[in-house]
Amino acid sequence: MIKLLLASLVAVSLIQAKELNTQMQEFMNTLKVEAKKQNPNFKEFDYARGEEIFTTEAIGKKGKLISCVSCHTDTLSNKGMNKHTNKVIEPLSPSANTQRFTDIKDVKKWLRRNFNDVYKREGTALEKGDVITYMIKKG
Ligand code: HEC
Repeated sequence: MIKLLLASLVAVSLIQAKELNTQMQEFMNTLKVEAKKQNPNFKEFDYARGEEIFTTEAIGKKGKLISCVSCHTDTLSNKGMNKHTNKVIEPLSPSANTQRFTDIKDVKKWLRRNFNDVYKREGTALEKGDVITYMIKKG
């Protein structure tokens, strides 16, 4: 009986570990409010739209075809490599790298930079919410 109880406690804490911390939840809520302002029909962020953003190649800031996959690979639990500097990038997946999606300042800064690198503009609230949903769920 006690074993069962312990097992379920562990299960619960594992599920919670995969959830976003408070500041990230607040950030996602802010993005939702903005997305809704920009489009009253907006309902929820979407994994498939996020996947498209992450995997689509565009002529980037440096004038060459590039996508998020170019630096982060399409297996988010793997290490990536910065295409511009050849430096190793730790995995993006929060299950492989517990630091990910914990510091809202980092997330904002890198999303802004990386969107600019690939799409030559800052992502909209909808795009940011979709791509974060994808990265977190894909794990
Ligand atoms: C030219 C290489 C490159 C491209 C292209 C790129 N990234 Fe990154 N990304 C980086 C680097 C470098 C970092 C910062 C180093 C680190 O955090 O390990 C980073 C960090 C991030 C982070 C920070 C996560 C956290 O919590 O620390 C997110 C989110 C992210 N990238 C998403 C994206 C998305 C979405 C795209 C496509 C729009 C993208 N990246 C395209 C190189 C790239």
